[in-house]
Amino acid sequence: TRTPVNVTVTGAAGQIGYALLFRIASGHLLGADVPVNLRLLEITPALKAAEGTAMELDDCAFPLLNSIEISDDPNVAFDGANVALLVGARPRTKGMERGDLLEANGGIFKPQGKAINDHAADDIKVLVVGNPANTNALIAQAAAPDVPAERFTAMTRLDHNRALSQLAKKTGAPVSDIKRLTIWGNHSATQYPDIFHAEIAGKNAADVVSDQAWLADDFIPTVAKRGAAIIEARGASSAASAANAAIDHVHTWVNGTAAGDWTSMGIPSDGSYGVPEGLISSFPVTAENGTYKIVQGLEINEFSRARIDASVKELTEEREAVRALGLI
Ligand code: NAI
Repeated sequence: TRTPVNVTVTGAAGQIGYALLFRIASGHLLGADVPVNLRLLEITPALKAAEGTAMELDDCAFPLLNSIEISDDPNVAFDGANVALLVGARPRTKGMERGDLLEANGGIFKPQGKAINDHAADDIKVLVVGNPANTNALIAQAAAPDVPAERFTAMTRLDHNRALSQLAKKTGAPVSDIKRLTIWGNHSATQYPDIFHAEIAGKNAADVVSDQAWLADDFIPTVAKRGAAIIEARGASSAASAANAAIDHVHTWVNGTAAGDWTSMGIPSDGSYGVPEGLISSFPVTAENGTYKIVQGLEINEFSRARIDASVKELTEEREAVRALGLI
C-alpha cells in the first residue's frame, strides 16, 4: 500500500471546510488509491466545532482516511504537510478598509507561511482559497523563503468552472466539449474569463458564440460577479462549489491536465504575457507529474489585453499595499 499523504486544511470548521474534508477523505483530492492523514488547523474557539467534523469523518469509515489531527498551532498542523489548503481567512466586515483587511490577513498568512517554511515536507504544494486569495498567497510565500516560490498558488478554478458552465449554457454544448478556457488576473471582480482561445468540440469558442455583446455585457460580468449572486440567492457564500474547485485545482496539479486542454491557476508570474514577475496572477497552465507550466505563445487581442491589464493593475496595487504594511 502507498504511504499516506499529509493534507493540512485551515479553516477546517468553516463552511468550505465542511464541504471539502469529506471529499479529500474519500479520495477525490489525490486519487482513489492514495491514503491521507488529515491535519485540521483552526483558531482556538473553533476547535470544538472542528472536533465535531472529525467525529463525522470517523463515522464515514473512509477506507483511505488514515488519521485526523486537530490543532490551533500552525507549527503542529503543517508538520510534514505535503499538501496545504489555506481556506481560513479574515472576511471583510462592514466599514473595513482594504488596508485593515490586508493587515488582518497578514496576521494569518504570514505565520502560516513561516510554519510551512519551517515544518512542511520538501514536496509541499500550497493552495490559498481564503480571500483576497492571490495576495494572501503572496504573503505566505514571502514568509517561506526556503520553499520554491511556485509551490504557492491561489484558487481561480471556481471562476474557471463557472465560466465553463456559462459557456455551455449559452452554446448548448456539454461542459466536457469545452477546452482551453482561461481565467486571467485576480480572483476578484476584475478577473477576465477569456474564450478567444477556447474550443467547443474543436471549433473556436468565440466564433461559435459570435456575440460580442453577450461576451462583454453578460458572460464576463456573470462569471466575475457570480460569488455575489450566490450570496444573494443562498444567503451564504459559495461553499460546496468552492470546495469542489479546490479539489479540482490540487487534483489537476498533482495528476496533470488532459492532452490538448489546460486549466487556470493563480501562480507566481515569470513575466509571461506582460504580468510583472512575482505577482500571483491567474494564467492558462498545463500540469504534468506534479509540476505546472504557463501556456506560452497565445495571441492576446486588444479586448483581452485591456481586461488582463486592469486586473493585473489591481494585483500590483494589492502587492504595493502589503509591501507598505511590511507583510512581504
Ligand atoms: P467560514 O467563515 O465559514 O470559515 C472560515 C474558517 O476559518 C472559520 O472556521 C474560522 O474559524 C477559520 N479561521 C479563521 N482564522 C483562522 C486561522 N488563523 N487559522 C485557521 N483557521 C482560521 O468561511 P468559508 O465560507 O469557509 O470561506 C473561507 C474563505 O474562502 C473566505 O475567505 C472566502 O472569501 C474564501 N473563498 C474563496 C473562493 C475562491 O474562489 N478563491 C471562493 C469562495 C470562498
